Amino acid sequence: MNLTELNRIATAMVVSGKGILAADESSGTIKKRFDAIGVESTEQNRRDYREMLFRAKDAMSQYISGVILYDETIWQDAKDGTPLVRLIEQSGAIPGIKVDEGTQALPMCPGELVTVGLDRLAERLKKYYERGARFAKWRAVIDIGSGIPSMTAISVNAHTLARYAALCQAAQIVPIVEPEVLMDGDHDIDRCYEVTSRVLNKTFQELRVQRVALEGMVLKPNMAISGKKCPKQASVEEVAEKTIRLLKACVPAAVPGIAFLSGGQSDEEATAHLNAMHKLGPLPWGLTFSYGRALQAAPQKAWSGRPENVAAGQRAFSHRARMNGLASKGEWQSSLEQKAA
Ligand code: 13P
Repeated sequence: MNLTELNRIATAMVVSGKGILAADESSGTIKKRFDAIGVESTEQNRRDYREMLFRAKDAMSQYISGVILYDETIWQDAKDGTPLVRLIEQSGAIPGIKVDEGTQALPMCPGELVTVGLDRLAERLKKYYERGARFAKWRAVIDIGSGIPSMTAISVNAHTLARYAALCQAAQIVPIVEPEVLMDGDHDIDRCYEVTSRVLNKTFQELRVQRVALEGMVLKPNMAISGKKCPKQASVEEVAEKTIRLLKACVPAAVPGIAFLSGGQSDEEATAHLNAMHKLGPLPWGLTFSYGRALQAAPQKAWSGRPENVAAGQRAFSHRARMNGLASKGEWQSSLEQKAA
């Protein structure tokens, strides 16, 4: 393992002004997104859609540091035969790959999940590296509900995340470690804070036990935020203040960077939260976005599967990428959104 090189990549992934495009929806998830815009989820439509994003030159070269791909996409070529991975590299962004194989029910723990995909991971990582991937992603899911999460689910998922991270570093790939505490419930922000703190502490304990070099990884956490169904929604300032307090308490400064998931927040909320956090600096790590839905909802709608809408889709993507790029420096203002509209 070359830690200097891993650290260089991790640092580039979270460089100020840029963030990560999570375009790694599994076939099931992208079908849901396409259903919502009335587009059939064929291999070609998935390719055309992602090619549109990766060819959005301004957005990709100025605001996107890396792109997380799904297995199908990393092997696909653009219409003109250029591998999609090359388009990403040519824009100056770093290609990455989602390597987990989804979740399964965790035995003895009703309602809880464990992420799977470790079995042949070492061989798969080798192939992904040869194809150009320089970082990977693995997502663990922790749900908040009555009596959950159990300590069992937290430790099994933390152990698995650390197994994955160690395998990545041995293959010279930067692991994005993503323990996602879902925001789907009716819990308040303080319960989210408490659960996320337990999850992060356990995850870093496992990373240390399994000798993962913190300097060569990126953390992808949820924010401390109210559950979607909670009657009392925390303000932007409260989310920012509690999230930074939580991360300072749980994430060692050796970690080069933190890149948030959007997790079901609206586009503008996700941007406003990141921006507000940067008003609370200086921070010990790079802090940016690794959004899926919050970067893609607008371009998906603008595109709607029609070739004549490609330019509009790219404009919508560029706008969100720019807004989040500004937020990653604390330079976003809501008036910039209205101007674009
Ligand atoms: P969202 O930003 O849509 O939550 O997706 C990010 C991601 O990669 C989740 O694994």
